Amino acid sequence: MAQLKIGFIGGGNMASCIFNGIVKTRPQQDLLMVSGPHLEKLGAFAAAGAELTTDNCAVAAWADVLFLGVKPQVLPDVLAELKAVDWRGKLVISMAAGWRLSAFYARLGELALVRIMPNTPAKLGLGVTAMCPGAHVTKEQTELCLALLAGLGKTVLTDEEGINSLGALAGSAPAFLYRFLEALVAEIVAHGFSESEARAIIEQMALGTASMVIANQDQSIAQLREAVTSKGGTTFQGLTQMTNYHFEAMMHDVIEACLRRTREFEDMFK
Ligand SMILES: NC(=O)c1ccc[n+]([C@@H]2O[C@H](COP(=O)([O-])OP(=O)(O)OC[C@H]3O[C@@H](n4cnc5c(N)ncnc54)[C@H](OP(=O)(O)O)[C@@H]3O)[C@@H](O)[C@H]2O)c1
Repeated sequence: MAQLKIGFIGGGNMASCIFNGIVKTRPQQDLLMVSGPHLEKLGAFAAAGAELTTDNCAVAAWADVLFLGVKPQVLPDVLAELKAVDWRGKLVISMAAGWRLSAFYARLGELALVRIMPNTPAKLGLGVTAMCPGAHVTKEQTELCLALLAGLGKTVLTDEEGINSLGALAGSAPAFLYRFLEALVAEIVAHGFSESEARAIIEQMALGTASMVIANQDQSIAQLREAVTSKGGTTFQGLTQMTNYHFEAMMHDVIEACLRRTREFEDMFK
C-alpha cells in the first residue's frame, strides 16, 4: 500500500505534539512534510524524518492529510495562500479555536474537513481531544483521523457545539487545575515548607487523587470525596468554606467566560 502523505502547515507546540504522536504510534509508516516561515525552528521535525519547506501551498498540494497548525489569527492569510489547491481526495484537519467548519468552506469551498480540539497533556499521550468531522468527511476518513490522533490520548467524537464546550472543559481545564494546584503550593509554603517540598507534595497528591478516581470506577467522584470527609471533621470544615464561596457557581462562570470568548472568536473569523 502507498505510504500516507501527512503534511503540517505550522510546526508549533500543538503540531509537534500531534506529529510526535503519529511518529510514535505509526513508526516508519508515513511520509511527513512540515511548512513554516522559519526552517531553523523545525529541526526536530527533520530529525524525525520530515521534509521541511517554507511553501505552504507545496505541503497542501502534496499531502493526503493536512494538519493546519497555525494560530487562529494567522489562518486568514494562510487560507488565502491555499485558494488554488485542489482539495479533492484530501483530508484537512484544523485545530484552530473559534474557527467553525463554515468559515473554512467560505474560504476554500466545500472540502473534507475535521475540527479537533486537543489539550496539552496530549504531549504525554494523556490528552483529551474533541473531534468533529464535517459533512464531507467519509467514515474511512473519520477512522483514519482517529488512528492519527491515537498517540495523543483519548479522542471524543462530537459536534461543533461539543468542540466548543470541550475546548473549555478539557482544553482550558488544565489551566484551571494548575491554578488550583498553585494555590495549594502557596498554602504549603505559607505553612513553612520549601517551594520544592511543596511542589513534590502537591504532585504526589494530584497524581494519587487522579489515580484514585481512575482505580475506583464503581464509585462516583462525590463518593470518593465523602470517603475523605467525616461530618464535623477538618475536611468537612474546609469543604463548607468552599460551599460558602459558591465554588460550583464560580466554576460555572469560569466555563461560561471561556465559551463567551469562543463565540467572540467565531464572530471574528466568520
Ligand atoms: N497549544 C495548545 O494548547 C492548543 C490547544 C488546542 C488547540 N490549539 C490550536 O493549535 C494551533 C496552534 O497553536 P500552538 O499553540 O501550537 O501555536 P504555536 O506554537 O505558536 O505554533 C504556530 C506555528 O505556526 C507557524 N506559523 C506562523 N505563521 C505561519 C505561516 N504563515 N505559515 C506557516 N506556519 C506559520 C509558527 O512558526 P514560527 O514560530 O516560525 O513563526 C509556529 O510554528 C492554534 O490554532 C490553536 O488554537 C492549541
